[in-house]
Amino acid sequence: MRQFTEDTLTDAVVARLARCEDPRFKEVMSALIRHVHAFVREVELGEAEWLAAIQFLTATGQACVGDRQEYILLSDVLGVSMLVDAINHRKPGGATESTVLGPFYAEGAPELPAGADISHGGPGEPTEVRGRVLTPEGKPIAGAVLDVWQTAANALYSTQDPKQDRFNCRGRFRSGADGGFFFRTVKPVSYPVPTDGPVGKILNAMGRHPMRPAHLHFIVSAPGYEPVATHLFVKGDPYLDSDVVFAVKNSLIVDFKPKPDGNTLEATYDFGLKPADRKSAA
Ligand code: BEZ
Ligand code: FE
Repeated sequence: MRQFTEDTLTDAVVARLARCEDPRFKEVMSALIRHVHAFVREVELGEAEWLAAIQFLTATGQACVGDRQEYILLSDVLGVSMLVDAINHRKPGGATESTVLGPFYAEGAPELPAGADISHGGPGEPTEVRGRVLTPEGKPIAGAVLDVWQTAANALYSTQDPKQDRFNCRGRFRSGADGGFFFRTVKPVSYPVPTDGPVGKILNAMGRHPMRPAHLHFIVSAPGYEPVATHLFVKGDPYLDSDVVFAVKNSLIVDFKPKPDGNTLEATYDFGLKPADRKSAA
């Protein structure tokens, strides 16, 4: 067939994949074409709207410079990242729930001794974070690595702020023989995702705020176990119910309690890792 109508075009485009040799790619592309066509039909997309979408996607790509990844941010604020996470990390009981990695992870943070202060005495409420890394059955995992990062008290990650050292408020800690870990920091603060690019504009146009509830990021890994990328959220934060990237899970909310000395907060959490060969629970 040479000439297509509104009704026959979708099937014709999908049919052009007939000689595609990769079955998974063929499945994904066919579904993508069908869903994009269905969307265009549903909203009866105008030509000016189509052009605005092309310009938005172009600007999003152009904003991906150096440490900045505007496409990941777009996926995050549209809930796509958390949907992918949910589908790919169906955990059995006992394993810590994962959440979005986010665009501010920096590889190569220094390994620090137990008790080190990742904020290096910077401003903020002094906080001690401790806990254990355990198997789903509750046995300690020794030698697990906890890669930790958070914003400084000015609500910026070191990779966003030329005034901070590259690895400020970042560090890697190792669990001891009892699975225990311990480090010092400052209480995380809520912060806005970057709003000076195309994603900020689209959030504003949708009437949405850009805030994330206060949290500490972790990647916890150990040989023979599935690594988990997750957060610990601060109980009581005003944005827990409206996180701009939909990443809050109840099991990850932690009380940052005052210690008896009255000057320091304390947060305690036990991470669970599942063995690498154990398949996701149904
Ligand atoms: C973050 O928590 O660092 C983050 C996650 C998603 C989008 C922006 C920031
Ligand atoms: Fe964050």
